[in-house]
Amino acid sequence: MNSYTPESQQRERIPTEICSDAEAGCLRLAGEIAALIRKNDKAGRSTVLGLATGSTPVRLYRQLIRLHREEGLSFRRVITFNLDEYYGLPRTHPESYWRFMHEQLFNHIDIPPENVNVPDGTVPRGEVFESCRKYEQKIRDAGGLDLQVLGIGRTGHVGFNEPGSGRDSRTRLVTLDNLTRRDAARDFLGEANVPHHAITMGVGTILEAREIVLLAWGEAKARVLAAAVEQPPADSLPASFLQGHPAVRFLVDAAAASELTRVKHPWLVGSVDWTPALARRAVVWLAQQVRKPVLKLLEEHYSEHGMAELLIEQGPAYQLNIRIFNELQHTITGWPGGKPNADDTHRPERAAPHPKRVVVFSPEPSDDVLGMGGTLRRLVEQGHEVTIIYQTSGNLAVPDEEAAMATDLMLELSRSASGQPAGAEFARKVHGQLGAKAAYDSDPDEIRRLKGLIRRGEARAALKICTVEPGQIRFADLPFYEKGRYRQFRIGDADVAAVVALLRELKPHQVFATGELDDPNSVAGICFEIIRQALAVTRADAWTKDCRVWLYRSPAKEWETAEIEMAVPLSPRELAWKIQAIYHHKSQRSQSPVGADLQEAWQQAEMRNRATAKIYDQLGLAEYEAIEAFRRLPAEGSQRRPAGR
Ligand code: F6R
Repeated sequence: MNSYTPESQQRERIPTEICSDAEAGCLRLAGEIAALIRKNDKAGRSTVLGLATGSTPVRLYRQLIRLHREEGLSFRRVITFNLDEYYGLPRTHPESYWRFMHEQLFNHIDIPPENVNVPDGTVPRGEVFESCRKYEQKIRDAGGLDLQVLGIGRTGHVGFNEPGSGRDSRTRLVTLDNLTRRDAARDFLGEANVPHHAITMGVGTILEAREIVLLAWGEAKARVLAAAVEQPPADSLPASFLQGHPAVRFLVDAAAASELTRVKHPWLVGSVDWTPALARRAVVWLAQQVRKPVLKLLEEHYSEHGMAELLIEQGPAYQLNIRIFNELQHTITGWPGGKPNADDTHRPERAAPHPKRVVVFSPEPSDDVLGMGGTLRRLVEQGHEVTIIYQTSGNLAVPDEEAAMATDLMLELSRSASGQPAGAEFARKVHGQLGAKAAYDSDPDEIRRLKGLIRRGEARAALKICTVEPGQIRFADLPFYEKGRYRQFRIGDADVAAVVALLRELKPHQVFATGELDDPNSVAGICFEIIRQALAVTRADAWTKDCRVWLYRSPAKEWETAEIEMAVPLSPRELAWKIQAIYHHKSQRSQSPVGADLQEAWQQAEMRNRATAKIYDQLGLAEYEAIEAFRRLPAEGSQRRPAGR
């Protein structure tokens, strides 16, 4: 790190910039790429770009297309080399990276086809080595990569250099990690369909690029990103090898940056403005570090952990301990909709009105019960008028086998009944389509409809356990999803209008939503953005004055303890009901046997809720079986987390 590195970033071994959001980051990088291309064009040189696939660069490519269309940016002298390709997939396969790049970028710009290079995933095994060698030679012949764009996988891979890849590795055939294959399962309509091998540029190949920019959006990347930036380089985390590069940068959003020390524990890397929220975060962290309940923290614990300044400002220790203890205590409530006729000064939710009109948005069927199944049941039991809105049908996530079982059942029914039930014709058609479908073909409308119906059935069964009446369930089937495919979703006016109409009809006092910290290109991320836009449209409506928006999480990740604003304890019985509810989302269970390190969603949810309860217990609050946690949506324009300096 050079002497200009701000104190707060001393631990960062790679310059990392936190952008306001993915869109802003992509806009910036697209502008830089355009400037590079124009500069080289002027000098009569070609520009050689290394490109990545996946969700991460999708918005970058949309920006480059826009610059081409609106500002005349020409790609005639651009030469591209993609990082990787699945091995064994023909170019025409919907998930081949060759096809991805053409659909997302090349078909929409003026790049000459001969300038496009993607590793060939179709060469016979015996020729792979030679093909990889030629790929590297071609990069060198083009003058080497001017700029390499990267994403990062949850395993820490760049390209498909999975853990274990050496710093000097070259373009080669690799085996994909289990976690990587699971992450790709949705795209391939089932984990079993995901190839086991890929061809990837090596770490050494990537490091030869003159400039490298790695992009990361969404909190799923936060942990691995922080390790790549702050931990010493190691084979176990190939992205960490980028640390040695003279011109590497990371552009990330706040969610992906959330595990960096300057964001998560800023007091460890410099002096901070001790806001109440930061003090709470630091005290909770300290208690966990020294394994003591909050009320047993001593002066020396504070000073030994870089928090003496906090004590000077807000101490003495015992007084601060009591304040934070009370704050944490006040997050706990068995009345997620507010306790009627009770003093609500220190309760997360207000007592009146009671009952409340509650709207729970669920990006797909199952997100609701996974994130807040126990709370949902309580809300209904406590007399609130709860409406569940499934924003999408979730049909893309239903494996063919499930659809085939459903048609079999319908056909069986039609045979046994005297007359032909109305659905028989439909079932026959879908049955035929499923039989005729080649692997990975996209689903015709009828199959998608049936798969959507399967998810509806599962959702109804799950909600029955949460005592939600069928009349309280809405399936919004938002158009962005019904007309789209993964990685090609685009929010349209009709999506926002549909959610606005629902909100205006239901006029909720409480809204529960999720997806705020997800990858903005994921279904949950897009669904959240639609809600955000709908709330902006309805901001002036009278009902919004009396409406609170609560956020719940996916089972994979809990709120930071100090960020929790409402903790709803679940009794052992309630936890069991919740698991049973999740269990009804049968089509969402893993399609192949899961390894010991990979869990089913219900297992994750159970573990997560138990873990949150354990933390509350360790902090000295109360010992519950499980806890579901929520926080309020921060007001528009306010920063969730200090973005570091
Ligand atoms: C893609 C690639 C991968 C991805 C990484 C992140 O060409 O090489 O390293 O960048 O797996 O994937 P997404 O962007 O889908 O989260």
